Amino acid sequence: MKGLVLSGGSGTRLRPITHTSAKQLVPVANRPVLFYGLESIAEAGITEVGIVVGETAAEIREAVGDGSRFGLDVTYIEQEKPLGLAHGVLLAREFLGDDDFTMYLGDNFIVDGIKPFVDEFRESRPDAQILLTRVMDPRAFGVAELGSDGQVVGLQEKPEFPKSDLALVGVYFFTPAIHEAVRRLKPSGRGELEITDAIQSLIDDGRTIGSAEITGYWKDTGNVSDMLEVNRQVLEGVEPLMEGSVDEASEIIGRVTVGRGTVVRNCRIIGPAVIGADCELTDTYIGPFTSVADGCRIVSSEIEFSIVLGEASVEGVDRVQSSLIGRRATVSGTRRVPNSNRLVLGDHSSVHIQV
Ligand code: G1P
Repeated sequence: MKGLVLSGGSGTRLRPITHTSAKQLVPVANRPVLFYGLESIAEAGITEVGIVVGETAAEIREAVGDGSRFGLDVTYIEQEKPLGLAHGVLLAREFLGDDDFTMYLGDNFIVDGIKPFVDEFRESRPDAQILLTRVMDPRAFGVAELGSDGQVVGLQEKPEFPKSDLALVGVYFFTPAIHEAVRRLKPSGRGELEITDAIQSLIDDGRTIGSAEITGYWKDTGNVSDMLEVNRQVLEGVEPLMEGSVDEASEIIGRVTVGRGTVVRNCRIIGPAVIGADCELTDTYIGPFTSVADGCRIVSSEIEFSIVLGEASVEGVDRVQSSLIGRRATVSGTRRVPNSNRLVLGDHSSVHIQV
């Protein structure tokens, strides 16, 4: 069995974070979301993986390399334009050969990995197998309709009036039967070859489509509270690790990792939390469920239940909560008159100011 990881696309939903970086590299507990997917593929015993890359190809290649770090043998497949998930399957035809494969969307996060589903697919081997999860707003997803005995009877892509709240998770299991279905596709309303339509045509042909429902799922729907929640779930499993230096005036409570080169002075850090490498933390409180990436500077501030991306700086601010702070962003408190807020915000940013 092979793996096909789709990492093209431009990530409009997570703007402004994805203005400058691939959506598959958005960090969860300081590691790119894509890495968790690659690890779960390796854990399922799959080693040959094709990664379909688009306009952010250089960044993805740089992050993943030849895949050996994950125990994978990675082949890159270039997709010039984001013409849909099924277009990715078309492009990968030669790489996939006549093997079964799992298709994994690189911006999807499945908390407990995919091994049990790969095992189940290998054993029962329906023509295709999908994963489903219940969501608040199915209109942002592919949606499945199940029959009375639980079989998949129909699929719709981002329907205006969803027939259920069961969203298609971005992990699929296919036999080579999918190739014929993909070849027959016509572009959808959004101009893409939809994998949802390809699976629907397998259903129409009377093929068997297995399904399983999962919990613990996240994708980049642009919803920052979902992102904080998945960050929280991953931090729940963090093990303490101290590689930086912490002075005597600081107090570290619970499961906290501090990366190499990080200097902590007169701080109180309550885990679970991860602090990256080469950070400077001074006179600061870091509360539970916070991820601080490499090279950040946090001084005289309080921050909790938040994600701070690389090289950002927060100074003199109490308190920052439920926030996502982008790369090299600076947030600073000021007590000067007049009592006003001064903002320099990038496109698509959003700020909530206490009034
Ligand atoms: C794609 C699929 C959709 C699925 C989703 C999961 O949507 O088309 O059916 O629910 O991935 O991530 P897209 O990310 O292209 O909007």
